[in-house]
Amino acid sequence: MRVEKRFQLSIFNFQKLMIKVLIDLLGFLRTTAPLLVSLVIFTLLFILLAKSIKKHAKIYYIAFSIPFLMHAVPTILRWCGIEVEFSFTRIPILGEIIRDYIHMGAFGHPLLIIIMYMGALNIKNPYVKRLMSIRKELSIISGFPVFTHSLVRVANNFPNSLKYFTDHTEYMANPRVTSELGAGISSFSLVLGIALLALFIPLWITSFDSIHKRMGSIKWKKLQRWSYGLYAMLFIHAMGIQVGGMISRNASSTNENKKTEIVTVAEIPQGRTEQNEKSGKKQDKRVEEISDINSVQQKQNKSDEVSALTSVRQQPAGGGKARTKGFADFQVSRETRQIISIVSLLLIYGSYLFLRVRKAVRKNKTRNNF
Ligand code: HEM
Repeated sequence: MRVEKRFQLSIFNFQKLMIKVLIDLLGFLRTTAPLLVSLVIFTLLFILLAKSIKKHAKIYYIAFSIPFLMHAVPTILRWCGIEVEFSFTRIPILGEIIRDYIHMGAFGHPLLIIIMYMGALNIKNPYVKRLMSIRKELSIISGFPVFTHSLVRVANNFPNSLKYFTDHTEYMANPRVTSELGAGISSFSLVLGIALLALFIPLWITSFDSIHKRMGSIKWKKLQRWSYGLYAMLFIHAMGIQVGGMISRNASSTNENKKTEIVTVAEIPQGRTEQNEKSGKKQDKRVEEISDINSVQQKQNKSDEVSALTSVRQQPAGGGKARTKGFADFQVSRETRQIISIVSLLLIYGSYLFLRVRKAVRKNKTRNNF
């Protein structure tokens, strides 16, 4: 009896350990390759929930519009001059969801990719068929993260990125801009966001049945062809932001190295350094408010360094039992994560292009045979 109990207990402990390892692994993969992981998770979820989404579409629309409204309403109130102290982004979990909406990577982008792939895969496949049955519903849902992202990015990033083209000298005078090429690629990609938005709105609106019917099938199909343009721009937008950021980051680390050399050789007296730091703080704050992608990049580098340092696990004092190492202990540098993002984008959009062209060629062949 005792042996059986002990055996059951060890099985229970083993299951607990396996669940912990799985959660750990998922967390690690999610921070390392967020787009690929979200893509897999959402594809599985949508396949499983296809019937429910089709049947209760309105409930899903309401649920997915909540994070958008929670961010949009206070933002619009603030634009109207009404100060709102409270922010939903500070609430745990809910704040995470709103942030995922803002950044596109965890939800909006995978959703757009799933919709995009449906047109390139074989409709006879039962899983593709299931997803295809909710393509319209997924297109409507995709609007909520896209509009949340656009609202934030048009207000915070777009004006400054435009300055790269309209007031280049002032833009380049910003001490945080480390590379003209990097800033140029980022700015172009960010400005392209407006074209993306302009193209996305009509495609999104015409996903609604009432508008689709009013337009008629021929006009609707013609408009839907523009979705290929949207996919191409999505790739350029997402890729350009990554590549531009990477170039700026590399230039910034080269400059940092140069600065360190100069400081060690010049040996500036302590008092002067402190004074410089104090006067520089005000300037830094103003520059941060500009919220351009290069300063965002630098802030991320700094916080990455800090998190890498603080996350070094402490050994318990007094010779206590050392914690076993898990996936959460692996630290992946920002550079590696950026390379993974770039490779993911190339893989996803490259295979889409291959599959879409192959489908078109096959369709043409069967048409010619008839
Ligand atoms: C002027 C408008 C826009 C600006 C300034 C802008 C800016 C940005 C920025 C800064 C990022 C980096 C990730 C982040 O922190 O959010 C990003 C990523 C992205 N944006 Fe936009 N965006 C705009 C509009 C749009 C629109 C309308 C769409 C979709 C139709 C879109 C799709 C994406 C995607 C797919 C990513 C990549 C997310 C990932 O990492 O996988 N953006 N955008």
